[in-house]
Amino acid sequence: MAERSRLSARAIASLEQGSRRAPYSDTVTALGEALGLSQNERAQLEEAAASARGRSRPEASGLPAPLTSFIERTEVGEIAGLLLKYRLLTITGSGGVGKTRIALEVARRLDQPYHNIWFVDLLPVRDGKQIAPHVAGLLDVRADAGRNLFVAIARHLRPYRTLLVLDNSEHIVADAAALVGSLLRDCPLLTVLVTSRELLGHSGEFTFRLPPMNEPTALDLFLARAKATDRSLYFDSERLTVVADICRELDYIPLAIELAASRVSVLGFDELRKRLKGGISFTGSRDLPARHQTMGATISWSSDLLTDMDRLLFERLSVFIGGFTLAAAEAVCADASLPVGSIADGVLRLVQKSLIEGELVETSTRYRYLESIRSFAWERLSTNCEVNGMMLRLIGWLVQETRLLALQTSPELFVKLRSELDNLAASVNWAIATGHAATIVAAGRALIGFRRVHYGTSRHGEMRMLGFALLEKLQDGDSPEVVGRLISAMAAYVTGEEQAGLKARAIPLLIATGHASLTADIHARLARHEFARGNANAVEEHIAAASALLTREERTDSRAGFSLTSTQCVR
Ligand SMILES: Nc1ncnc2c1ncn2[C@@H]1O[C@H](COP(=O)(O)OP(=O)(O)O)[C@@H](O)[C@H]1O
Ligand SMILES: [Mg+2]
Repeated sequence: MAERSRLSARAIASLEQGSRRAPYSDTVTALGEALGLSQNERAQLEEAAASARGRSRPEASGLPAPLTSFIERTEVGEIAGLLLKYRLLTITGSGGVGKTRIALEVARRLDQPYHNIWFVDLLPVRDGKQIAPHVAGLLDVRADAGRNLFVAIARHLRPYRTLLVLDNSEHIVADAAALVGSLLRDCPLLTVLVTSRELLGHSGEFTFRLPPMNEPTALDLFLARAKATDRSLYFDSERLTVVADICRELDYIPLAIELAASRVSVLGFDELRKRLKGGISFTGSRDLPARHQTMGATISWSSDLLTDMDRLLFERLSVFIGGFTLAAAEAVCADASLPVGSIADGVLRLVQKSLIEGELVETSTRYRYLESIRSFAWERLSTNCEVNGMMLRLIGWLVQETRLLALQTSPELFVKLRSELDNLAASVNWAIATGHAATIVAAGRALIGFRRVHYGTSRHGEMRMLGFALLEKLQDGDSPEVVGRLISAMAAYVTGEEQAGLKARAIPLLIATGHASLTADIHARLARHEFARGNANAVEEHIAAASALLTREERTDSRAGFSLTSTQCVR
């Protein structure tokens, strides 16, 4: 048995004798394979072992906590019931109809029968290839470079009854379907709840088309949100008639209702109804595209009511796919037409108007858009030809933020920078899509700056893919320095094998641009790689090359020097 499962005889004996009752998950997997158990049997064994490890209810589920109250809908119970029968359920419906909110509510109430509930927002994932790294990152799945991430995620989930919620999947349905299909096949205890405007198109998918609210629920939502902006508001029967009218005009779409309700204390009931009638086009039809139009028209109506300066801010902030702090907004969005001093108040006004939402992350407030609103604002930004300028400023700001790392490396700074990883990934992907050399070089600088930030997040796979994607587009002549430094920075992500392949490109570029110390670092790493492969001569060559590149001080007092010394120690 020990031989077949590649475990030590002692490990098997201690399990048999009961001196060890809670085997590690790798041990259980190996045992299951050696015993030739079916997939179902293996899952049962793994589940039993997981409970024995006392980890039957790991806590890190990452369910975001909305700041606003939830208005009860009958669909919560329906969806929860369906999840007991179907392992893949997709909630579809137009933007703003309440898919995300209801998925969260279902997940929140469904702590049984699941050990584990994971909530993954796919919005920041702009490129479908990056779903797996993104999911792995959130689940803290560590996979060695090059290893199949689908397999690694499946291994991680398999022992537990898990509910995986994939929110906002519409822009990458095909890749989401591939991941979900593979996970459902490998993890018999897994259930997946998806929210998406489009179906995944997976054969086992059960579709739940979320309708807009019914009238009483819509009224409740309007009242709750209106009262949140002004506690003294009261509702008599006359006002309630107007509100019912407004909700009908808005097709009972929660997001549209929230936008309208936030205005009532300023505009008054009749004026609000009048303006809505004049401001948004109603088709009266209840089919999906029409509702879509209503939503777009309501956002447009709401943003047209903004002052010119607030509208400019509203559009510019849409570059922050991963959310933003006030300081980030000030650094990226301010210019002559939008003074820096006006931004804090502008952001608050946008929150009051339900166009953006604030959430407390650690000790500071981060702001973000709901997805339909951000894409509307981004479209306006493109119409005004501001996307390039603003994205470049975002990239520049990201680079600037990482400069602090050279001066201090406090844990707080890492936490702060880590919350920008979604913005970093989105910017790099955007830059690559522009195909514009200078823009790609700028994104390269940002990735270099963030090279150590992802430690502890398991976003290795994603960073690695971004690095390779940039290297593929970058010509050495675009910026020899950035190409060389990017390869050097990628030492954190690549295998020794890959590093050996990349060195031929990096070393001449780094030497030519005066980065002797980074070159020495590459040699030191390659020496360790060759050492592991038993190539004594190559080890000596790399150590000699590294030593020759460093001054006496650098040898004792620099990163590369440290890297070299530790290499000499292992030799
Ligand atoms: N049942 C509900 N109770 C309270 N607020 C809701 C409810 N449903 C939706 N909302 C609010 O309406 C807005 C849009 O909902 P969301 O779930 O983001 O829509 P979708 O995901 O379909 O685009 C959000 O601000 C959300 O909090
Ligand atoms: Mg959503």
